Amino acid sequence: MVDSISTRLGGLAYGGDYNPEQWPRQVQEEDVALMRAAGVNLVSLGVFAWARLEPAPGRYEFGWLDEIIDRLHAAGIAVDLGTPTAAPPPWFSRAYPHTLPVNREGVRIGVGGRQNACPSSPEYRAATAGIARALAEHYRDHPAVVLWHVHNEYGAPLGECYCEASVAAFRAWLRAIYGDLDALNEAWGADFWSQRYGDWDEIDVPRANHTAVNPAQRLDFARFTSDEHLACFTLQRDILRASTPHTPVTTNFMTANCKSMDLWRWAPEVDVVSNDHYLTAERPDNHIELALSADLSRSLAGGAPWLLMEHSTGAVNWQPRNLAKRPGELRRNSLAHVARGSDSVLFFQWRASRYGAEKFHSAMLPQAGTDSQLWRDVVELGAQLRELAPVRGSRVAAEVAVVWDWESFWALELEWRPSVDLRFRERVDAYYEALWREHATVDFVHPAADLSAYRLVVAPSAYLLGEVAAKNLCRYVESGGHLLVSYFSGIVDEHETVHPGAYPGALREVLGLSIEEFHPLREGETVELGDGSRGAVWSERVRPAGAVPVVDFAAGPDAGHPAVTRHDLGRGTAWYVATAVDRLRPLLARALDTAGVRRPHGLPDDLEYVRRGDVVFLINHGDTEVVVSEPSGTDLLDGSVWPGAVTIPPGGVRAIR
Ligand code: GAL
Repeated sequence: MVDSISTRLGGLAYGGDYNPEQWPRQVQEEDVALMRAAGVNLVSLGVFAWARLEPAPGRYEFGWLDEIIDRLHAAGIAVDLGTPTAAPPPWFSRAYPHTLPVNREGVRIGVGGRQNACPSSPEYRAATAGIARALAEHYRDHPAVVLWHVHNEYGAPLGECYCEASVAAFRAWLRAIYGDLDALNEAWGADFWSQRYGDWDEIDVPRANHTAVNPAQRLDFARFTSDEHLACFTLQRDILRASTPHTPVTTNFMTANCKSMDLWRWAPEVDVVSNDHYLTAERPDNHIELALSADLSRSLAGGAPWLLMEHSTGAVNWQPRNLAKRPGELRRNSLAHVARGSDSVLFFQWRASRYGAEKFHSAMLPQAGTDSQLWRDVVELGAQLRELAPVRGSRVAAEVAVVWDWESFWALELEWRPSVDLRFRERVDAYYEALWREHATVDFVHPAADLSAYRLVVAPSAYLLGEVAAKNLCRYVESGGHLLVSYFSGIVDEHETVHPGAYPGALREVLGLSIEEFHPLREGETVELGDGSRGAVWSERVRPAGAVPVVDFAAGPDAGHPAVTRHDLGRGTAWYVATAVDRLRPLLARALDTAGVRRPHGLPDDLEYVRRGDVVFLINHGDTEVVVSEPSGTDLLDGSVWPGAVTIPPGGVRAIR
């Protein structure tokens, strides 16, 4: 479906969130002229304009928007039309005060921010359906509208609601899942702490408590929360589809940065996957986290092109210290998203606001106006993206997959784990970074997905693994796959119940080992391993049962016992790593080589190397020139021809075809 957009645009999409409702007409006219100068061909409109579009219940005022859309259309700029439901107008909250969300601590959120309605509220859902229907009917035949942008970042900043409507909806959701209370009591382990339920109305949402709350209840509440927001989305999507069956519908995900939505369940429901990504400004190698987010977006899209819906030209305004981008960083960031499958480079936002909470956020057109380096960079980027039109629609191939499961993420980070240092993102990021530096392109996968396309599958933190997923991993290895698993994986099933027998119940067979005892390490403590590397966070007593030790712990509570093992099973191999190894790259290189993963060798580890279709992107994040012997061809970005080796200047980017 992305194709239908980029075909209409004739290339990659370039632009961003446009909030003309904040500006007088004269500025709006200037906007369109400047958009043309920058090469903008797509803007997201109306995302936060509910109060203007429906100033009183059922009274729609679209005239002002008609004028703007017509003006954009006349200038050849297409529209990604928002449904404004992420910020209900004050009249709505006043009429239905009980729709304001309640947080886990019992505090009802007030007006003045956004995302201020409970997703389970019938009144809220009805109002969203009303405005979506009115927009769909009004704009169904407008040629400028090429995409629907439903809501904004479902589940952020907080997805959960603990109000009375949520309690009722949670009970209904549980009834639909479990059918009867015996099944629920069993799944929730309700005999622990006398929690056996005799009536559905006894069940509550897992509010703040003075002790740990039943983890199965919390896990189901997390699933429920994701499903409730998804129901809000599909309600609007179906209304839009009914009026405009040929216009794709998306909602902007934050693929790697929104913990509260299970995007494996969401992705099949959107016509186009779109993603918002913002750098962690103070992290020096934040381009690696960017790559992770882009790879996860592509994976959610099933490998198809996706849309980068938002990122920033410079600083954001909501981090502790909002660093501006360094010279060349805007270009590197944008092109890295394209390299990893995005058919767009879109920003929050077009013009920097003068008022409101986001006035210190960067934009394509900064407060300084057009006489600024940032504006010149934006204009130049627009021109570069036109040169990249040939990559539109093409795919990125990966031979390595990293397991990513939101349910496991939620479960691992509930209360009372063996160590507070067991963090999902910490392990995923560590492995992803090592793979990135090894120049191995990565897809993300759900553990129950078809893995046959991958030579190596890495499960950095697969704490929760159901039976289907566990069998899937085992079958994958038996039939020739290579699997690498990190500690504290395969421990519980989907109800937070420990798999029977010794840890890791779900993976004992495939890994060829069991674990007798966990030995979490103290904060900052490390233990030496036999190969001179060091382990942190975790140590445990591994008992091989078929697996062979590769590296032992040389010190610490498990000295003399395996820290890394290898198990040849069927036609494949399963590796296990029982601690947070400080030198992951040699270990991964070995697993990559054993699996026969093809990747370039001998490149500097801060050179990003990604092949998309027949174009190789080379992004130099270092401060010295890099020469690579392969590929040869023409740089689409500047037309330079590289028959033998390719030179990439410090901070530079080449797209060689
Ligand atoms: C996004 C959001 C935008 C804007 C932006 C600022 O998460 O969708 O509306 O707030 O952050 O970085």
